[in-house]
Amino acid sequence: MGFPRLLRILAICAVSQAAWTQSPTYGLGKTPAPEEVRKWDIAISPTGKELPAGQGTAKEGATLYVRKGCAGCHGATGSGAHAPTLISRKGVKPDPSAFCLAPCVNDANTMSLHSPFATTIWDYINRGMPLGKEGTLAPNEVYALTAFLLYKNGVIGEDEVMDAQSLPKVKMPNREGFALPPEWKHGEPRLQGYP
Ligand code: HEC
Repeated sequence: MGFPRLLRILAICAVSQAAWTQSPTYGLGKTPAPEEVRKWDIAISPTGKELPAGQGTAKEGATLYVRKGCAGCHGATGSGAHAPTLISRKGVKPDPSAFCLAPCVNDANTMSLHSPFATTIWDYINRGMPLGKEGTLAPNEVYALTAFLLYKNGVIGEDEVMDAQSLPKVKMPNREGFALPPEWKHGEPRLQGYP
C-alpha cells in the first residue's frame, strides 16, 4: 500500500472516530448507580454460586408458609387452590414428558419435583413470591420455604438444613428429565413443527 493511500485511510478513520464520539445522546435514560444494578442482579444459576448467606429448615418453612400468606393462595396443603400446586399429593409421580404451558402446574410438574435444580425454587420464591409483596422475604426465610417445599414433596428430610452449600447439592428427582433441543441451523424453524 502506498504511503498517500495509507494516509487517506487513516484520515477517514479519524473522521469517523470523531463522528462517533460526537453522536447525539438523545437525553434518554441514565447510567444506573452500582446500587441499582445490584438490586436487579439477583439471578441464581443452577450451581448456586450467587446464593447469599443464610439457612433454613422445613420446620421453619412450615410456619412461614402460613405467616407469609403462601397458604392463602396455594392452599393449606399446597394443592387444590387457585395458585399452582406446590405440594404434590402422595403417589403422583413426575411426568417429564408432560407438555403444557404456564400456569398448567399440577401434581406431576410442581416445581420441587419437575425442576432439574433446587436453586431454581430459591430463585423463584426470592424474586417472585409472595405475589404482590415480592422482594420482602429475607434469605433465611427463602431457604426455609424452599426446604419446606422440598421436604413436603419427599425430596429432602425434615431436619436437613438448606444453605448456599447444601441447596445446590440436592438430588432433584427430575434432574435428568430435560433434554437439549437439537442444534439449530440457519433457515430451520426454531421449533420442529412451528415455522
Ligand atoms: C396472592 C397470591 C399468592 C401468594 C400470597 C403466593 N403465591 Fe406463589 N404463586 C402465585 C401464582 C398466581 C403463581 C403462578 C405465577 C405464574 O405462573 O406466573 C405462583 C407461583 C409460585 C411458585 C412456582 C410454582 C410452579 O411450579 O411454577 C412457587 C414455588 C410459589 N409460588 C411459592 C410461593 C411461596 C413460598 C409463597 C409464600 C411466601 C407464595 N408463593 C405466595 C400466587 C401466590
